Amino acid sequence: MNTEYQKKIAAEKATNEIRPGMVVGLGTGSTVYYALLKIGTLVKDGLDIVGIPTSEGTEKIATAQGIPLSTLSTHPKIDLTIDGADEVALRLNLIKGGGAALVREKIIANASQRILIVVDESKCSQVLGTNFPLPVEIIPFGWEATQKAVNQFCGSSTLRGGEEQPLVTDNGNYILDCDFSPVGGITEPAKVEMALNNLPGVVENGIFVNRADKVIVGTASGIRSMEKDS
Ligand code: A5P
Repeated sequence: MNTEYQKKIAAEKATNEIRPGMVVGLGTGSTVYYALLKIGTLVKDGLDIVGIPTSEGTEKIATAQGIPLSTLSTHPKIDLTIDGADEVALRLNLIKGGGAALVREKIIANASQRILIVVDESKCSQVLGTNFPLPVEIIPFGWEATQKAVNQFCGSSTLRGGEEQPLVTDNGNYILDCDFSPVGGITEPAKVEMALNNLPGVVENGIFVNRADKVIVGTASGIRSMEKDS
């Protein structure tokens, strides 16, 4: 089964946990896309839910699918969030932010009772940061100084989009993609998450520790699920 199919089966499986009346956090990315299509079909068939999108991109897709949307101001508690990830390591620790939505994704995760992560099998690793560079959202002012400080934690980092046309996030910020492979990955994710966020200029980083309740992996031989604490 190819990667696209693995993404689809994982995302559709996650939608089985949606119940009528739920407030559903809608993640960002090409895997969650399949969940949005499925939720759109369920809504057309009469499922009564509201979704809270994690990005402007997801908001557009969800609107096109007819999914009723709300905000965290109106619905501060989310029952279930379905989101993707760029890397899933031991203890369900995650790297997120490949789609530049990490800040809103972490805010939504924080407000969620239950979080389901949907990925294809290429996303799984043993040590976080060995399979994917860590995205760190930083404010544009003095970004070079912030990059220098961030680089003390990793081997090196690159400004997403390049200096001439840096990518600008939904929040008006830049992203540094940090390569931790030269330092053997992120062996203490909770510490690194906190330390990076402590640097002036850093808004948030893509390390998600102890947040996923379940990771649903689409594999070449079907679906594999990993539960928190299992
Ligand atoms: C968005 O910022 C990310 O956290 C995505 O959830 C992550 O990049 C997964 O995206 P794909 O499903 O497209 O790989």
